Amino acid sequence: MKNNASSPTTTNIKSIYKSSNMLSIDLAGIHLRNPLLLASGFLGISQEIFNRLYNDGLGAIVSKSISVSPLDGYKGPTVVSLGDKGYLNAVGLANPGSDVFAHEIMNNQIPLIVSIVGSSQSDFPKLISKFDKLNILGYEINLSCPHVAKMGMEVGDDPDLVTKIIKTIKSRTKKPVIIKVGIGNTDILKLATIIQESGADAITAINTIRAMIINVETGMPILSNKVGGLSGIPLKPIGVRCVYEISKKVDIPVIGCGGIFTWEDAIEYVLAGATAIELGSVIGYTGLKAFNQIKLGITKYLQKKDCKSIKEIVGLAHKY
Ligand SMILES: Cc1cc2nc3c(=O)[nH]c(=O)nc-3n(C[C@H](O)[C@H](O)[C@H](O)COP(=O)(O)O)c2cc1C
Repeated sequence: MKNNASSPTTTNIKSIYKSSNMLSIDLAGIHLRNPLLLASGFLGISQEIFNRLYNDGLGAIVSKSISVSPLDGYKGPTVVSLGDKGYLNAVGLANPGSDVFAHEIMNNQIPLIVSIVGSSQSDFPKLISKFDKLNILGYEINLSCPHVAKMGMEVGDDPDLVTKIIKTIKSRTKKPVIIKVGIGNTDILKLATIIQESGADAITAINTIRAMIINVETGMPILSNKVGGLSGIPLKPIGVRCVYEISKKVDIPVIGCGGIFTWEDAIEYVLAGATAIELGSVIGYTGLKAFNQIKLGITKYLQKKDCKSIKEIVGLAHKY
């Protein structure tokens, strides 16, 4: 066959193969073609969109957080774009509930992690029984949503409840269980230790942080819920600090999340100790092309540093 743009040369094939191997990771027993995951809450409830996101280059998808029953969420405004590339949101965990979502993903063929959220220990066995028989990689448990009463952060702030929830889930599934933490009232390092001791397989850090904005003309808080969660670029140094400290404290893998917009941001999280990273707000500003831009930047960085695999640089900042 003649070499042209649509038939890559042997050298090209080798280098594509090499670079894809460079980015592959193992996360809590799951093998992923690259470390880029969709963060929960972004485009996260349609199988068709999951397929599109995977085809556009992600290593895996994390769904929107799903509760046992449907949640309507708050009335608008629920999401405000901030000047400095971030969002303030109080969506209120709006989702279609576990029956509808399990039906949506019943023929899933891509690497999908289902994010689940509950208000009591008894919600979780119901959620696991809905999803465990489906073709999914595992679960991310949202114990850190900062703006819904009795869910998310209020659960994550209660160490005894966190232990009970993890043990309950682990006794009902063989799939990996990832716990998503944020900045609440309980010290994040104390929480990370409890999470590891309770048998979880990995930790995602961090969720949005409680924040608010006020319209100076009217004097009114802009979100209908008044307080929401801050995401995007302002979050990055806090996320990097959390990943750094958590990965020093525990042995289970850490997934970095918060303000990752460029390949440099991604590398920073990996150097801090992240095995994988999640992308959220960047999609709103850069679109889906962000995935390949970030992967290309990481690949070039690894080549420049003479590294054969991204695994070689996980937590490298710890040695200083
Ligand atoms: C509109 C919106 C909805 C979100 N929904 C969820 C959710 O359902 N579950 C969850 O664990 N995190 C949710 N998050 C938090 C993100 O997954 C992520 O932790 C956070 O946005 C920080 O990452 P980023 O700066 O890349 O956006 C949501 C964030 C936004 C902005």
